[in-house]
Amino acid sequence: MAMLLELRHVSKAFSNVRVLQGVDLTVEAGHVVALAGENGAGKSTLMKIITGIYHRDSGTMKFQGKEVQFHNARQSMDAGIAMIHQELNLLPALTVGENIFLGRELVNRAGRIKWSEIDEQSRFWLKQLKQDIDPREVIANLSIAQQQMVEIARALSMNAEVIIMDEPTDALTDVETKILFDVVDQLRSQGKGLIFISHRLGEIFQLCDDVAILRDGEMVHQCPVSEIDQDGLIRHMVGRELSEQYPYVTAKSAPVRLQVSQLEAKGVKGVSFAANAGEVVGFAGLVGAGRTELAKAIYGANRPTSGTVEIDGQAAQIRSPIDGVRAGIGYVTEDRKLEGLIQSQGLRSNMSLTGLFQFSSPLGHLDKKAERVAITEYINAFSIKTHGIDAVVSQLSGGNQQKVSIAKSLVPKPRILILDEPTRGVDVGAKREIYNLINDLKTQGLCILLMSSDMPELLGISDRILVMSHGRLTGAFEHNDADQESIMRCCTVA
Ligand SMILES: Nc1ncnc2c1ncn2[C@@H]1O[C@H](COP(=O)(O)OP(=O)(O)OP(=O)(O)O)[C@@H](O)[C@H]1O
Ligand SMILES: [Mg+2]
Repeated sequence: MAMLLELRHVSKAFSNVRVLQGVDLTVEAGHVVALAGENGAGKSTLMKIITGIYHRDSGTMKFQGKEVQFHNARQSMDAGIAMIHQELNLLPALTVGENIFLGRELVNRAGRIKWSEIDEQSRFWLKQLKQDIDPREVIANLSIAQQQMVEIARALSMNAEVIIMDEPTDALTDVETKILFDVVDQLRSQGKGLIFISHRLGEIFQLCDDVAILRDGEMVHQCPVSEIDQDGLIRHMVGRELSEQYPYVTAKSAPVRLQVSQLEAKGVKGVSFAANAGEVVGFAGLVGAGRTELAKAIYGANRPTSGTVEIDGQAAQIRSPIDGVRAGIGYVTEDRKLEGLIQSQGLRSNMSLTGLFQFSSPLGHLDKKAERVAITEYINAFSIKTHGIDAVVSQLSGGNQQKVSIAKSLVPKPRILILDEPTRGVDVGAKREIYNLINDLKTQGLCILLMSSDMPELLGISDRILVMSHGRLTGAFEHNDADQESIMRCCTVA
């Protein structure tokens, strides 16, 4: 098979911090190469070097046998390399069609944009992904999963020879993931070369032909997937053995902390349930089932139209996220880029944003020392990889941004913690750290609601699993009698 892409001895540093060191990577036609590695290992940076967004300090790259040097993303796109970005790269105020054809608008001879053709082609590519999304819809009105599908459609529409997918399944549930995998199979049989990045290790074994493993910026192993197992993969990624992936701690019996009764809100229809102090209640559901809407209705980001929320036996009037924080609810959004973190600001300002009152004297002065101590503790407890407490969030790797987002919700010391896809983009080692942390918080008596599309994770660490479909609760399972198949059946109840 022809070699499509060949990187040799690629190195890169950002202001003297070495991020990639002598990296080799090859992609053959008709192969899907998994690129694995912990958060911050350098995966996205390497992909951005291939596509000309970043420039390598040294090393060579051949594309279809020819030495190339791309100076920007446009050049790599024109040459035949497409990339699906980890942090979605869409413009929220523009339409689906405008985003798919951004930077290469179809124009007629008079220089007019051919809208009908943009519509038609957008529909065609979305249809490949079984998505019935209106090309004229504004991106901001779509769910994260739909946005992810648009980003994928955009990459497909370029008819590229090499397609890079940087954590494309991160925001998808099993159903869309399956659709994407079918498309990848087609591309593979057409002789395209693909690079696939995912922290869901099962997907690597399910989908990929080869695996390349980066650790701390060095390529430590590249081999056919058939020659490695999950333990071996993890060992190369983290450089040590990692025991049991889902540590489960049995919940002690405790009083009800959160009582939700007949809650009605945008996307939520008459939901009632109770959750105890010291309990992890998992929420399963397909994209659009209403889990995020439920979280937002409880937390105060969406105002309920009827129904009640009681916390520790007292009616809670929560009309805004500030009321939510005051009532003792912490919320980690699934959308850290748009809602979770201020990308252009430092870790410190992001983390103390919702908890500033904790570091204030009665007169309202900010106690900078207390703030620094508290934030440093979280950075250490979560092993957040950063060069300081004022490092700008946009420069952290994806998984480390996720950790900052969780730490931020804990600063005001909540009684109830709602985690919406908390391990999105988080590597195996860090996932373990987050599960341990969830267990610690649970042992300390926090009531935790866990919305997750990662089924093994839900089954692994929830005490109970509630299933949602079309805004309603359609199933409930105890830890010991939950299984993937029964949950999926409840997910698809109309
Ligand atoms: N523009 C930048 N300026 C400075 N440092 C950067 C920049 N981009 C990335 N880095 C650093 O380079 C390292 C590698 O980051 P990269 O995003 O490539 O990791 P990754 O393997 O994709 O991780 P993840 O799995 O979390 O997405 C990190 O330590 C990150 O902080
Ligand atoms: Mg990355």
